Amino acid sequence: MAKYLVTGANRGLGFEFSKQLLGAAHDVWALCRDPEGADDLKELAESSAKSESSGTLTIRKGDVCDEESLKEASAGLESLDVLINNAGIIGQRETKFDDICLEQMAQVLDVNVYGTIRSTRVFLPFLKKGADKRIVNISSLMGSISDNSSGHYSGYRVSKTGVNMLTRNLGSELGELGFTVLALHPGWVQTDMGGPAAPLNATDSVRSMIRAFQAKTVADSGGFFDRFGKALPF
Ligand SMILES: NC(=O)c1ccc[n+]([C@@H]2O[C@H](COP(=O)([O-])OP(=O)(O)OC[C@H]3O[C@@H](n4cnc5c(N)ncnc54)[C@H](OP(=O)(O)O)[C@@H]3O)[C@@H](O)[C@H]2O)c1
Repeated sequence: MAKYLVTGANRGLGFEFSKQLLGAAHDVWALCRDPEGADDLKELAESSAKSESSGTLTIRKGDVCDEESLKEASAGLESLDVLINNAGIIGQRETKFDDICLEQMAQVLDVNVYGTIRSTRVFLPFLKKGADKRIVNISSLMGSISDNSSGHYSGYRVSKTGVNMLTRNLGSELGELGFTVLALHPGWVQTDMGGPAAPLNATDSVRSMIRAFQAKTVADSGGFFDRFGKALPF
């Protein structure tokens, strides 16, 4: 079974990835900013320890804005098969260009774009020793330039366009080493970020995403896909 590392694993899609991957007997390193307060992860660790069919769950502190914390989180890790760069924030939900707050935008870029760079940089040496060599960047259709007909959410949109570009860059740089680097759109999902009006629950979104990214190969590297694995326009 494979070894996965998930950032932002204490709630929302990150928690659901951890739960479903463990249930499929994979080992999961779940990173979160506050392991002490991560009650759902702690409960998952207890239940998975009692189940013979479950993988093992390792909970570590990891803030994608603090590279040192990611390095500390890697202590004891020997190799890694799949990195899921999931941690993200939406930031300001502005509706007018004049209202854009650059401080809030900088924070969104720090988590969503630079955070993806930090965690990929720290965990890449471990992925190089792994069998699968897969990086899954959780992006958003809101980062698609050609799909954007409504505007708003400038910080979030720019950040996810950046995640898509990083995915393409890494895909071409790491392709010859056998890496599969993907940007995935989860759909609009009921999480703290997506809100209760979202049409999709986290269980279904994550189940589809896992199936989609596991089916991709190095030939798909650098691509942007929906949760069913269908290519999306950049
Ligand atoms: N929900 C949707 O409809 C939707 C749609 C498209 C894309 N996405 C993307 O899916 C991913 C997960 O979103 P979600 O819906 O699950 O959101 P969420 O419920 O708001 O969860 C966000 C997660 O990111 C973590 N996080 C935030 N800042 C962090 C940092 N500096 N370091 C480490 N972790 C950090 C949060 O941890 P704390 O608890 O410590 O804050 C939390 O675990 C994001 O990348 C998001 O952009 C979501």
